[in-house]
Amino acid sequence: MSRILIVEDEPKSVRLLSLVLEDKGHTVAQAANLEQARRLLGGELFDLMITDVRLPDGSGLDLLEQAHENQPGLPVIVVTAYGNVTDAVRAMRLGALEYLQKPFELEATAIVVDKALEQDKIRAEHTYLLDQIMEGEHQVQIVGQSAAMTQVRDLVTRVASTRSNVFILGESGTGKEVVAKVIHAASARRLQPLIRVNCPAIPSQLFESELFGHIKGAFTGAYESRKGKFELAGEGTLFLDEISEIPLDLQAKLLQVIEARSFTPVGGTSEIPMKARLVAATNRDIKELVGQGRFRDDLFYRLNVFPISIPPLRSRREDIPDLAEHLLAHLQKEFGLKKRPILSETIDVLLRYDWPGNVRELRNVLERAIVLSADGPIAPVHLPEELLTLGSGHSAHDFHGHVDQFKRRLLIDALQHTGWKKKEAAARLGLSQRAFSHYVKRYDLDRDRPEDA
Ligand SMILES: Nc1ncnc2c1ncn2[C@@H]1O[C@H](COP(=O)(O)OP(=O)(O)OP(=O)(O)O)[C@@H](O)[C@H]1O
Ligand SMILES: [Mg+2]
Repeated sequence: MSRILIVEDEPKSVRLLSLVLEDKGHTVAQAANLEQARRLLGGELFDLMITDVRLPDGSGLDLLEQAHENQPGLPVIVVTAYGNVTDAVRAMRLGALEYLQKPFELEATAIVVDKALEQDKIRAEHTYLLDQIMEGEHQVQIVGQSAAMTQVRDLVTRVASTRSNVFILGESGTGKEVVAKVIHAASARRLQPLIRVNCPAIPSQLFESELFGHIKGAFTGAYESRKGKFELAGEGTLFLDEISEIPLDLQAKLLQVIEARSFTPVGGTSEIPMKARLVAATNRDIKELVGQGRFRDDLFYRLNVFPISIPPLRSRREDIPDLAEHLLAHLQKEFGLKKRPILSETIDVLLRYDWPGNVRELRNVLERAIVLSADGPIAPVHLPEELLTLGSGHSAHDFHGHVDQFKRRLLIDALQHTGWKKKEAAARLGLSQRAFSHYVKRYDLDRDRPEDA
């Protein structure tokens, strides 16, 4: 369903066009002359404009320029008198997408309109896909076999196919954006855009305009009409990142839009339905902010239909080896470098650290290590000082957990070296077979066994 502006002075032609368009489920606005058309273009955002060339107060071709100045990228179909090739050629030169000849043929008209809307949609999708490929993120995945991450993946799969709003909670660098991307990619909306709003980055006086769009001249500096993020997201996903940073008055505005499921561009006169799914994220303790009255509880409940919590990396250390492999592969590809191994001693150091910056910090540490290790394997010396000289008190609260992690890693290493032959692995570690079987059970090592071993 699209919003289409018809600029045409002959009532018969208007009726015919409206009939064809409304039949297809589109919404139609009409202008009988240039002046009316200019007023409408100045007050609303359209998906398509169909304009006659000959109008009572001038040429529709002049409107074309103004429309593009107002709203760049607006697709326009120009209507010419039968056989008037000059007008048609001029229209195309001025940026019209298509032209139609009068008298209208119902079928031809429907086809041209469909084609124009389709072409515009393809262009938008194309730009979006290109962006994704350029970012190299067309293959995001949530890595980690810990119980916590298995549950996160499970929740993501379950919520992806629904329309529910999602709230992602987790410390900085835990992978909130990764989860948002995967939800989008796993949903039926995947071919529609995923639009991210980095809430703290928007100055509060521009917030409404960024989110809901604005009409040319709505405020000083609004030189052209622009669609906001809500409209750009279309039927896709709108990712409101760091949402806790929105000031209270704008929280009220946002709540109003979510409840009405429609919004009005700044300076605009008509409402636009909101169809995107909302995914919000924060690294703050949002319940505490709600308790302090710094985040509206009604907005919180609207957004928090389906919460997903990502635990900090230090409470799911068993994900570290997989994450390290994954991030290294990514970084090496990004840098165009040959794959090189990471020594198990290096992994052991990574397992002992507390990762206040979570997965992002792990990524940064590995990026540095790749640079330092030049051609060889990634060794502990390539890690930052603070990882190697862990203060004793640093992670003492989880002493046993760390020892367990360390043991588990040694056992897995031995199994990997021996192709999962338990007898040889036990011998390698100087353990009795009985002790070894005990550990296999205790640490659930068969979970890590590759299919072919
Ligand atoms: N489970 C995961 N699987 C794969 N990569 C991950 C995972 N978690 C995080 N990453 C990687 O770690 C980095 C940080 O992740 P992301 O940007 O999603 O975190 P965030 O929670 O949004 O952080 P912030 O609160 O700082 O915005 C990214 O490079 C991301 O690709
Ligand atoms: Mg983030």
